Amino acid sequence: MEKIVSLCKRRGFIFPSSEIYGGINGFWDYGPLGAELKRNAKDLWWKSMTRLRDDIVGLDASIITHPTVWKASGHLETFADPMVDCLLTRKRFRSDQIDPQSGLVHHYTGARDEAGGKGSTEAYSVLLPPGKPSESARKVAIEYYRQRGVENPVLEGERTEKVEGTTRYNPENGSLLTEPRMFNLMFKSHAGPVESDENVVYLRPETAQAIFVQFKNILETSRQKVPFGIVQIGKAFRNEINPRNYTFRSREFEQMELEYFIKPDEVVEKQAGSVTALPEDGVKGEPQADWGWQLWHAYWLEERLKWYESIGLSRDTLDLYWQKKDELAHYAKATVDILFQFPFGSQELEGIAARGGFDLTQHQEVSGKSMEVFDQEAQARYVPHVIEPSAGVDRLVLALICNAYDEEEVTDEKGNTEVRTVLRFHPRVAPVKVGVFPLLRNKPALVAKAKEVRDLLRQHMNVFYDDAGAIGRRYRRQDEVGTPFGVTIDFDTIGENGPENEGTVTLRHRDSMKQERVAIADLPALLLAQVQ
Ligand code: GAP
Repeated sequence: MEKIVSLCKRRGFIFPSSEIYGGINGFWDYGPLGAELKRNAKDLWWKSMTRLRDDIVGLDASIITHPTVWKASGHLETFADPMVDCLLTRKRFRSDQIDPQSGLVHHYTGARDEAGGKGSTEAYSVLLPPGKPSESARKVAIEYYRQRGVENPVLEGERTEKVEGTTRYNPENGSLLTEPRMFNLMFKSHAGPVESDENVVYLRPETAQAIFVQFKNILETSRQKVPFGIVQIGKAFRNEINPRNYTFRSREFEQMELEYFIKPDEVVEKQAGSVTALPEDGVKGEPQADWGWQLWHAYWLEERLKWYESIGLSRDTLDLYWQKKDELAHYAKATVDILFQFPFGSQELEGIAARGGFDLTQHQEVSGKSMEVFDQEAQARYVPHVIEPSAGVDRLVLALICNAYDEEEVTDEKGNTEVRTVLRFHPRVAPVKVGVFPLLRNKPALVAKAKEVRDLLRQHMNVFYDDAGAIGRRYRRQDEVGTPFGVTIDFDTIGENGPENEGTVTLRHRDSMKQERVAIADLPALLLAQVQ
């Protein structure tokens, strides 16, 4: 991970936000290459979800909505994490992320001052892993009482207790933690010039709710009928207690969410006679009228896995995690998470939840506006149910970078070996698709031809023109940022070595480093076939 973070900074993929002021925890900026990579990922998702399908349409809603949206959705009540603080360092943790620990707890009833000054009767305790001497617990406890105003603490009432699987102590220093308190993750602000309780608003913690709130408007204007979906890509904000693992858990991030509206199973049964059971080997083929929520859920899982594969995340880099009953969100009937094998562990990229009729029913009840549809085919009136594939753009970008990162030993023509760092991005997501290089920068005919090739290609894709340094170094620079193709304009191109290769260039492939001669006129079609 360290190498990846360093490369991202050095080559302009990702920077800490407001770095000149020391940065701000949980916020990141995407530099020139990161911005391109992110845009490619979002464009490919949008294209596969909307333009290549008849049954899904898009939405671009405001980030701030009426605050009642978050009351109806349950976020005001339940979108909270349990938080604990270290009693010694005040460092904050999510209590459900603390790994259970075992060892010997040293309890103290308080401390008196050696010189007869102020003492403390506050109880405190420290957990030591097996084998550590009691003296280390005493040191931590003395520091604790010092911080509470006891100048020269003499510990009182020491007793020890063996414990197993506790999460009540700071894993870094053994200090007791505070009791867990719930902490709502939504960022609050005020709409308008007065900061009063009446105009509190929230930055959306997910893009999904605006889709539910606009369900009726979209249904009425898009001429869709159930089953159909609405997608949105946009910023979401969560005041995470512990942002961590680089951009993986941020406080500001982007989501790509689909809310796919389906008929409730009882309506499917009425219309089709029965609801098809989920086949053991998964769901195959096109959606059918007798699919209930389980088949739709399985269908979307398969669609999403295929999409990840199409941008270079093969199935063996992904894991599936089916949430257990007690882990499911209050609204979910089933949720499967798609995990990517990051260097810091296999972690969630996307969740696919079967949300039932929860969201539309809630908004119907709280707003008093009907969310029902009348289904001509089924001759039924109902509130649609929902399957929700919800992915994080930032996590995807991080997964793409981690997946692409490679180092290999290469030997040059002179027999020298060196380590080549290469980002093996799928050409579809690569931030730069092709590097264009005149062999020499001081030969006007080469430079003019190279600029012609650059101008031809950049109508279709992102091109990087580079004429600085030896050609080998230029290739390496592009390898390091994952540019899949390099085009070199040499003396053959301009006909100086005879007519047979005039109008051709060297096309170099990043992964194999193989080179071939290609006619300039064939380049756009040849490259487009790979990068689109
Ligand atoms: N509408 C459902 C929903 O928001 P979620 O599992 O909380 O579900 C969906 O979030 C996706 O958003 C996650 O799978 C993840 O990719 C991304 N995500 C959530 N919290 C994030 C965070 N703090 N930083 C970066 N991405 C995050």
